[in-house]
Amino acid sequence: MFMGYKVAIVGATGAVGEELLKILEQRSFPISELRLLASARSVGKRLEFAGEELEVEEARPESFAGIDIAFFSAGGSVSAKLAPEAVKRGTVVIDNTSHFRLDPDVPLVVPQINSDDLEGHRGIIANPNCSTIIIDLVLAPILKKAGIKRVVLATYQAVSGAGAKAMAELDRQVKDYVAGRTSEPQVLPFASAEKHYPIAFNLIPQIDVFREDDYTKEEWKMVKETRKVLHQPDLRITATAVRVPVFRCHSIAANVETVESLEVAELKELLASAPGVTVMDDPARQVYPMPTELSGRDDVYVGRIRKDNSTENGFNLWVVGDQIRKGAALNAVEIGEELDRRGLVRVG
Ligand code: A2P
Repeated sequence: MFMGYKVAIVGATGAVGEELLKILEQRSFPISELRLLASARSVGKRLEFAGEELEVEEARPESFAGIDIAFFSAGGSVSAKLAPEAVKRGTVVIDNTSHFRLDPDVPLVVPQINSDDLEGHRGIIANPNCSTIIIDLVLAPILKKAGIKRVVLATYQAVSGAGAKAMAELDRQVKDYVAGRTSEPQVLPFASAEKHYPIAFNLIPQIDVFREDDYTKEEWKMVKETRKVLHQPDLRITATAVRVPVFRCHSIAANVETVESLEVAELKELLASAPGVTVMDDPARQVYPMPTELSGRDDVYVGRIRKDNSTENGFNLWVVGDQIRKGAALNAVEIGEELDRRGLVRVG
């Protein structure tokens, strides 16, 4: 008799790991055994799941023996090393890092958009970048209805995207500022960067490392991953990614040019009926999506929907989504649910 899956979380002590625990419990994911894995630093730490305390173990190749599904959220180098070890032991890996996302043998999936891509997986399924998931949920229905000529994005990304340490750093810097203390920034734009900048009362136009073309890797991910998720290898799309002093929820200002013309009312209707999207748009009543209001929500919210009068078929939109939920942990769990529905929790 099927009692549920044996599940592991790699990076269980991190910001996304913690949310994975909550979502697996809230959505009653069929689990018969749960193994919590992190670095050696966390061994012995106890975390709660479904009213039980579980001890964190060190993530090693042998940790995956007997595990059906593993959610990885411990950084690219951990996935690079341990995901193939897990697959070797028959575990299906749902990977939150960028390590395998552009590998042509690895499906990159937002279940509401391209769940058919899961068929024929070879053991690793990649969860897209957080901003990519959030904007693609809005772009997919537009693409289907009217075609897309070009997309220009500017992101306003919360510190949650840089992990628990970045959230703690924003908190500390605000308290230091109020107390009149000086504080040394240590975490952003990313921990191993040569220079660090304060995030409290600041904006940092750098997320991840710079590439040779002077775009950041985060901006490049949004371009490449969106093309893969939407099956549009030549999509014209460009982005500027900015870290902002917000704890949770990424926001994105999007300019979208469609091939066919659409009325604003039609676009609103289209988005209102799109899975995973809620329209929140009533300028007369000052109603629009904002991070503080939408932290912890599952849907992606879209507002400020209006015509771009500088071009023929253009629109401006404002999109907000909880980075830790739909942008990471929820999407990963939804991939797990879809694999279960399709009988794909098996390798090979
Ligand atoms: P640990 O708490 O033991 O360092 P965040 O993205 O919030 O910073 O979380 C990162 C997660 O990845 C944490 O759970 C962290 O565990 C885990 N992690 C970091 N390095 C390793 C490693 N070498 N092996 C396993 N887990 C790791």
